[in-house]
Amino acid sequence: MAINMKGKNLISINDLSKEEVAQILETAEIMKLRHYSHEEQPLLKGKVLGMIFQKPSLRTRVSFEAGMIQLGGAAIYLGPEDIKLGQREATKDIAQVLSRYVDGIMARTFSHEIILELANYSSVPVINGLSDLLHPCQILGDLLTIKEKKGRLSNLKLAYLGDGNNVAHSLLFGVVKVGMDIVLATPSNYEPKSEIVEQAKKDAKKMGSRVEIIHNPLEAADKADIIYTDVWTSMGFEKERDIRKNVFRPYQINQDLVNRAKDDVLILHCLPAHRGEEITDEVIDGPHSVVIDQAENRLHAQKAILALLL
Ligand code: CP
Ligand code: NVA
Repeated sequence: MAINMKGKNLISINDLSKEEVAQILETAEIMKLRHYSHEEQPLLKGKVLGMIFQKPSLRTRVSFEAGMIQLGGAAIYLGPEDIKLGQREATKDIAQVLSRYVDGIMARTFSHEIILELANYSSVPVINGLSDLLHPCQILGDLLTIKEKKGRLSNLKLAYLGDGNNVAHSLLFGVVKVGMDIVLATPSNYEPKSEIVEQAKKDAKKMGSRVEIIHNPLEAADKADIIYTDVWTSMGFEKERDIRKNVFRPYQINQDLVNRAKDDVLILHCLPAHRGEEITDEVIDGPHSVVIDQAENRLHAQKAILALLL
């Protein structure tokens, strides 16, 4: 039976039950099929999504906006210079006023607290389009990609190499909801936040899957079904770029590392990629890479999220 998710926020995958995650993925699969058979899906006719961006974006902005249009609605882009979030007026005022104009708010912020505050004061659903802590919509698109390519989500080993950042945090929450094993290899002092790891481990126990945080990139890649990486320097951390380039060098996804994984390994990257840093051209352009399909699936996963919540 369908679970009613209308009016809910999507701040963290951790707030979703495993049944809700499954429902989002199944809805996305149906919407993708219909999209490819050119069926109109005016599920959000007349509805409007407000999109607040404190940081740049290609995928998130365009896939949400295109998704709303494809569902018969519209989206309004509010960039850093438009509403000057955190500078021009109180976040709670923005949340309350926007709620009178739009049917949903998607926000990409620096601090995660801003997303929480928007959700707290908004009377329409708030969707996290990336904060310094989490990137849930990315991981829902990624799970859709893995399901398509592997035909299943459980009993797979995902190796994440690099920074214990927003993407790593949401991956931890996401993969344990579907019974996937995850090994995260990061340099010391760049591990994911311990409270997120502990929460993911609790879910993993229930699902019979494994969460491991290690420092050895080769061990992580060993017999992996999926290798995932992200930039070493996330938006907002640009001052640390030179230090990070040195610290993270052993965590690069190159051909030698890929050779340690299973023969049918999938290479994922949320993009944008810093080619030659966290991933080589050979690997990102190589036969195992699914990064463009992965980017496409943001559209389908988010259309499902929008149709279910708005
Ligand atoms: N992966 C992702 O969120 O890309 P953008 O920063 O371009 O939105
Ligand atoms: N971790 C990256 C993800 C970009 C989509 C960042 O926050 O910049």
